[in-house]
Amino acid sequence: MNEIPHIPVLLNEVVTLFKENMPREGYFVDCTLGFGGHSEAILENFPNIKLIGIDQDKEAMEFAKKRLAKFAGRVEFINKRASSALQELKELKISGVLADIGVSSYQLDEIKRGFTFDSEVLDMRMNKNQKLSAYDVVNFYDRNSLENILKMYAEERRYKKIADFILKNRPISSNRELTQILMSAGIKDKKNLARIFQAIRIEVNNELKELENILQNVENLASEGTVLEIITFHSLEDRIVKNQFRNWAKKCICPSESFRCECGGNNQKGIILTKKPLSASKEELKENPRSRSAKLRAFKFTKG
Ligand SMILES: C[S@@+](CC[C@H](N)C(=O)[O-])C[C@H]1O[C@@H](n2cnc3c(N)ncnc32)[C@H](O)[C@@H]1O
Repeated sequence: MNEIPHIPVLLNEVVTLFKENMPREGYFVDCTLGFGGHSEAILENFPNIKLIGIDQDKEAMEFAKKRLAKFAGRVEFINKRASSALQELKELKISGVLADIGVSSYQLDEIKRGFTFDSEVLDMRMNKNQKLSAYDVVNFYDRNSLENILKMYAEERRYKKIADFILKNRPISSNRELTQILMSAGIKDKKNLARIFQAIRIEVNNELKELENILQNVENLASEGTVLEIITFHSLEDRIVKNQFRNWAKKCICPSESFRCECGGNNQKGIILTKKPLSASKEELKENPRSRSAKLRAFKFTKG
């Protein structure tokens, strides 16, 4: 791999928000290092910041290590899931955290990683050491679990029919075969196929739970001044981030049925920096159509 296989999304917006709000020293954690595009920009723009790059994908991390070699002494790497890696950072003064959630263009495009419609494998693991793959989900999950994935993660109203077609056609050995089966169940256009593939991918990588755990761990690590930015690529993830930020920004956390405040009204952890999520400009969309569903939200902790 020589050429950079991933264009960082919303790069200017990400850097500008950190520039306007983040302390100039301490540690920066990139929870989803990928190919190091965002990290490179952070290291260039904040000469006194040290960076910790986390990714569960070894291939991406090897590439990022080479790309960031010029910042030797300022960068450390952790090849793990972000939720567990963050727990190792409790002693550090964290100034900024970025999570660019989801899969990289390399993971999506590389046919052997098993994310594409025409792949000969049924895989979709971001971390190749993980046991559960798309093969297991598609071939071994029971009807109820399959229906739930299709209903909850793909928001697909034909979930019963699709689960039925999958069950009847087992064993299914490749994405190519799965695509044909989905098409025979009436899922003809690419957008709907992509939603179903995405739902299986969310299940394989436990993506929503992982996002919730990342948010919880960042809350535990944050101190006054820590800035968190999160980029998501679909509404299920964006909702989780939006609700968490709203809860963190609340002064009063008494149950809604309480007549008067009994919590002291002093529970606000910080402020939301993005009233509405930022999305890609026309210029960025032209250059990188994959940025179309990206949404960026940011939060600044004012209390530890
Ligand atoms: C969208 S890409 C990030 C691209 C990166 N910002 C760049 O500029 O190259 C997402 C990356 O995060 C990794 N990833 C996603 N969720 C993760 C998690 N929970 N823990 C660790 N890595 C994760 C994926 O393996 C992938 O390499």
